[in-house]
Amino acid sequence: MTPKGALLAGLFVTFEGGEGSGKSTQLERLAARLRARGLDPLVTREPGGTPLAEEVRGLLLDPAGRPAPFTEALLMVAARSDLVARALGPARAAGRVILCDRYTDSTLAYQGGGRGLDRDLLERLNRAAT
Ligand code: TMP
Repeated sequence: MTPKGALLAGLFVTFEGGEGSGKSTQLERLAARLRARGLDPLVTREPGGTPLAEEVRGLLLDPAGRPAPFTEALLMVAARSDLVARALGPARAAGRVILCDRYTDSTLAYQGGGRGLDRDLLERLNRAAT
C-alpha cells in the first residue's frame, strides 16, 4: 500500500440515495480511482454482499410480493448482520477501504420514512446488526 493509501486504511464509505440517483455510478468511479492508486477496495452492496445476504436480497426484491414492513426490516438487518460478520469486519481488519452501495441509512429512509416503522426501533436494530 502506498503512503497515501495507508491514510485510507479501513475507511468505510456508504453511498445512499433514491433509485436512479447515480450512487452506484459514483461508487464505481471512486473504486476505479482507488484501484488506479494501487488499492484493493471491497466493493459491496446492501442488501447483499455475501451468499446468505444475496439470498435474502432475492426474497426482499421478489416481484411476486413484498414482505410486511416489520418482516422487511428484520430481513434487511439480518442480511446486514451477515455482511458485517463475514465481509465488512474482515475487510476492515485487513485495512481495506470499503465502498458499500446502501447501508443503515436506507433502513431509516425506506422502512422508517417509507413504511412507517419506528425510527428508534430501527436504530436499535441497526446497532445490533452492526
Ligand atoms: P438498489 O439495488 O437500488 O440498491 O435496491 C435495493 C432496494 O432495497 C431499494 O429499493 C432500497 C431497498 N432497501 C431498503 O428498503 N432498506 C434497506 O435497508 C436497504 C439497504 C435497501
